[in-house]
Amino acid sequence: MTADLAVEGISRRRVKARASGKVNLQLSVGPRGFDGYHPIATVFQAVDLYETVTATMRADGAITLTMDWADSLQGGAFPVPLDDTNLAWRAAQAVRDAFGIVDGVDLHIHKGVPVAGGMAGGSADAAATLLACAELWDCGVSRPDLHHLAVGLGADVPFCLLGHTAIGLGRGERLSPAMTHGEFHWVFALQHGGLPTPTVFERFDRMVALGEIVATDPVVNTEVMAALIAGDAGRLGAALSNDLEAPALDLAPGLAAVIDTMDDAAALGVVVSGSGPTIAGLARSRQHALAIGATITAAGVADVVVTASGPATGAVLVER
Ligand code: C5P
Repeated sequence: MTADLAVEGISRRRVKARASGKVNLQLSVGPRGFDGYHPIATVFQAVDLYETVTATMRADGAITLTMDWADSLQGGAFPVPLDDTNLAWRAAQAVRDAFGIVDGVDLHIHKGVPVAGGMAGGSADAAATLLACAELWDCGVSRPDLHHLAVGLGADVPFCLLGHTAIGLGRGERLSPAMTHGEFHWVFALQHGGLPTPTVFERFDRMVALGEIVATDPVVNTEVMAALIAGDAGRLGAALSNDLEAPALDLAPGLAAVIDTMDDAAALGVVVSGSGPTIAGLARSRQHALAIGATITAAGVADVVVTASGPATGAVLVER
């Protein structure tokens, strides 16, 4: 009887996990390597915008994927694949392959991180899915096991597992937690048209080849680390930097108006988030972040504005 009920999906085992989006406080990019990737030195900070993944057991071995949206994102504006090209789907498959699992899973993602916005929404899906599926299928994994699987899925997935604030070297997967003090308040200006990460890195290469920008060996900016330890938002704002800003602005020149508007609203620092097109502004307080957001909305230079605070947690189980 119990088995029948399980087949009908009435009492299927279910696990829920969530992971945060991120902003890069520093993103220094070196010349493209033979593996097709650029070496980077970055400082990630997780912010409290969450992707929540519900994983429900299937006995037939299939993996399915559905999605819904946080109201603030006015969901549906972006095409997100729901097939085996989706990073969450691939994360579930990676767990199955690694542990010889024959069961399947229905994955449902509630999106709270902008899509194709340079905030690692897809990577957060993958990180939460790794954790949820490992728990659902009782794989008995360690965090290093999950890190290893995350590295195979994408450059930002390992950080989305770890969360908080961390230095990332290599492709971003060689992580060291960073010491921080206090909370940092952010405003994010989103655009409906995403900028694909590979396109931005290609434009970076072209600008380097044309001598418009220089790609040097990337190193961590000690000023960013000092500002984090001191919990000094003003100092951190002045130290924010992103080598992908020039190519992102070259591809989407309209973003300059967003940066100017945040500067006019006295943001402590403004930076393109990851590969863009999201622009991140650091504020003095939650109220200041809301005020900057209101100025951006009034200026009509962004499609959606959200505020968030960091650091936030990495991938965690929220129900099992
Ligand atoms: O690892 P991920 O799938 O997120 O990267 C997407 C693409 O972005 C890569 O295929 C590569 O073209 C580019 N990339 C890069 N250097 C990095 C990270 C990503 O060139 N450090």
